[in-house]
Amino acid sequence: MIVARHLTQRYSRHSGDASGDPGASGADAEDSLLPVLDSVDLEVREGEVVVILGPSGSGKTTLLGLLAGLDRPSEGEVEIGGVPLSTLDEDQRAALRADRIGFIFQSFHLIPTLTALENVLVPLELLPRERAPTPAEAERTARSLLERVGLGARLGHYPAQLSGGEQQRVGIARAFANRPAVLFADEPTGNLDRATGDEIANLLFELNEQQGATLVIVTHDLELSRRAHRIVHISGGRIERIEDLVGDSGRPGLVQSGSGG
Ligand SMILES: Nc1ncnc2c1ncn2[C@@H]1O[C@H](COP(=O)(O)OP(=O)(O)O)[C@@H](O)[C@H]1O
Ligand SMILES: [Mg+2]
Repeated sequence: MIVARHLTQRYSRHSGDASGDPGASGADAEDSLLPVLDSVDLEVREGEVVVILGPSGSGKTTLLGLLAGLDRPSEGEVEIGGVPLSTLDEDQRAALRADRIGFIFQSFHLIPTLTALENVLVPLELLPRERAPTPAEAERTARSLLERVGLGARLGHYPAQLSGGEQQRVGIARAFANRPAVLFADEPTGNLDRATGDEIANLLFELNEQQGATLVIVTHDLELSRRAHRIVHISGGRIERIEDLVGDSGRPGLVQSGSGG
């Protein structure tokens, strides 16, 4: 359902901008374009849980942003549900994300002028008309999501009034709000203590098991990776190997057990 082909991203060393058009700035500029992601091919099946593992700076966040259609690649293509993202304009990609995609950002990306509750309401307000809740339903949904991440008492707090872990949990509640078909999570438990992290991991897997959502998770969390169907090891912008944790029965965690059926 998500297909990446020859996915390559280069950043200009000077501007810090993604460049999909190296030719425009001439040969000198091209020399300074180092590939951060280098011809990555990956297919993620519907309902699959894929963990992306790799050292800092290996291109994990870049890969996630490209797969989710947040950024455009320098080369290569991403298809979501059979639709090549390159065929969509900005508005169409935004509409696709609003309807089908959730994204938990490593650096939260909360809107600073909105409260926790209002931040979680944003994706509910962006839903396509046929899925749009009434304002009262939207508020009920946002409140209950914040309660599930343990922030029922922080609804009216602004991001600056919240700890890093609390902001991360608001970001998680927000990513769940549109009941996404695909959830991308960039180190979702990175700022959380073990117990809270485990609860968040359970929430992610609930979304997978109960709603069939596809999960693509960047994490260093070994507990979390052990529950994935596949682990994609990335290093220096390339996929090094892909570890399959799903046994013949289709259930995770049954690799090469040598016994049972
Ligand atoms: N907007 C940008 N401009 C220039 N370089 C970038 C930009 N974003 C990321 N990079 C560089 O790309 C590399 C990979 O970054 P990233 O995808 O964030 O890695 P990871 O998430 O694995 O730590 C790093 O060397 C980083 O400095
Ligand atoms: Mg990162």
